[in-house]
Amino acid sequence: MRILHVAAEVHPLIKTGGLADVVGSLPAAQVALGHEVSVLVPGYPAVMAAGPFEFQYDISNPGEPPARLLRGELAGGVELLVLDQPYYFERPGSPYTDEQGNGWPDNYRRFAHFGYVGARLSQLDDRGGVLHAHDWHAGLAPAYLRAALADRASCFTIHNIAYQGRYSVAEYAEVGLPGEFYGYDGIEFHGDWSFLKAGLVYSDAITTVSPTYAREILTPEFGFGLDGLLNYRRRDLHGILNGVDYTVWDPASDAALEQTYDAKTLKRKAVSKAALQTAVGLDPVPDRLLVGVVSRLTVQKGFDLALEPLEALLADDALQLVLLGSGAGDLEAAFSDLARRFPGRCAVQIGYDELQAHRIFGGADAILVPSRFEPCGLTQMYGLRYGTLPIVRRTGGLADTVTDYNGKNRAAATGFIFGAASATALRRTLGRAIKAYAEPALWRKLAQNGMRQDFGWERAARAYVDLYARIGAE
Ligand code: ADP
Ligand code: GLC
Repeated sequence: MRILHVAAEVHPLIKTGGLADVVGSLPAAQVALGHEVSVLVPGYPAVMAAGPFEFQYDISNPGEPPARLLRGELAGGVELLVLDQPYYFERPGSPYTDEQGNGWPDNYRRFAHFGYVGARLSQLDDRGGVLHAHDWHAGLAPAYLRAALADRASCFTIHNIAYQGRYSVAEYAEVGLPGEFYGYDGIEFHGDWSFLKAGLVYSDAITTVSPTYAREILTPEFGFGLDGLLNYRRRDLHGILNGVDYTVWDPASDAALEQTYDAKTLKRKAVSKAALQTAVGLDPVPDRLLVGVVSRLTVQKGFDLALEPLEALLADDALQLVLLGSGAGDLEAAFSDLARRFPGRCAVQIGYDELQAHRIFGGADAILVPSRFEPCGLTQMYGLRYGTLPIVRRTGGLADTVTDYNGKNRAAATGFIFGAASATALRRTLGRAIKAYAEPALWRKLAQNGMRQDFGWERAARAYVDLYARIGAE
């Protein structure tokens, strides 16, 4: 099968979150199954720096800035296609914002054209493959395919329904889609229009990244205004759990760690813990529960709920905290303040640091993910493999990947789960974790249970390929 992924991020070239991890590993897993797989990404400076790439052809379009298609390779035999369009993509900052974090005012133009190119490439291909578009940035690709009456299967994956790419009617006139698509049953959304809705309306199949999230987004609480449409397309909506790329995330081979280890040599994890404590300035005590956080700091992730319980437990000297993250200014400030007030017990690094993320998974005892909603979540799965017990809220992919320790299931449990999105529920669950940590044999058993889980990509890669076949891809 010929598969073209269209996405705004791909690890290791450009990453702001889990989307990049998925697009960096699902395609390779599909190649391993014998398929021909390409990934189209915009040529941001970070992507261009990974070149030189092979020039394919001029892909300029009337009314759009000049563009070239470049070709390279990603790990695992995946073809990398780069849309080299300097006017749109040669900009500092993140893929979506300037260096101050302000969204580029022409994001709708940038990503509309990106989707257009994705649709065009999939049509140019004479092998009848499938176009697989990810998140709102690629949401117009299925719409352009439909507008061209192209005989191509398309699959759209929701990684996060909260980000929709919503714009006003005046801007719609600029993106070259048919006027008749602008309607209630098309791209229109409460008087505006939305990239994400386009992906949901015009793709042949819709997926999201865990079975639980696939059910949750059918409700008003989680659907962000699109639950009605998703219910209408319910039969085409599938929850396929993300995987973990164990070539990148495995303590047995992780070069970022002071000391590698696996389930059998778990005791060696203590070396990585001590190294992490020293590196971030925590007291080098071996027997205090060290809770790690590697996360965007947004409302979604729920860290506002964690502040109060963490503060109380730090004051009691009941745990240590190491946090790496960035996002909302008030949360950044609140956690930085916590670190100032509890030196030696709490260390906070505001920013994005891939290497440090690995060291936290390797060195912490537990990883905290208190999300209000979580389409899949990858860090709890990384925690599982690193023997770093996830403490998570029961939602989305967190509910699908962690088994709560209830005091009786030590043979099967892999972490700690709380239900209510409240500081009280989180406080109670941190208390349960602290209690279990006081029993080293129990803790080791729970860690090993998690390390022996297999969340590799093969299962998901097969599930997507089966789905493509059902929507007519060859
Ligand atoms: P989301 O995509 O919603 O942010 P995921 O759990 O799916 O959540 O993926 C987050 C990814 O981003 C993981 O690979 C995680 O390690 C990484 N990450 C998040 N914040 C940081 C950070 N500040 N520094 C380094 N890596 C981070
Ligand atoms: C989104 C979601 C996250 C998911 C990731 C990859 O960023 O917030 O839960 O793991 O996409 O699918």
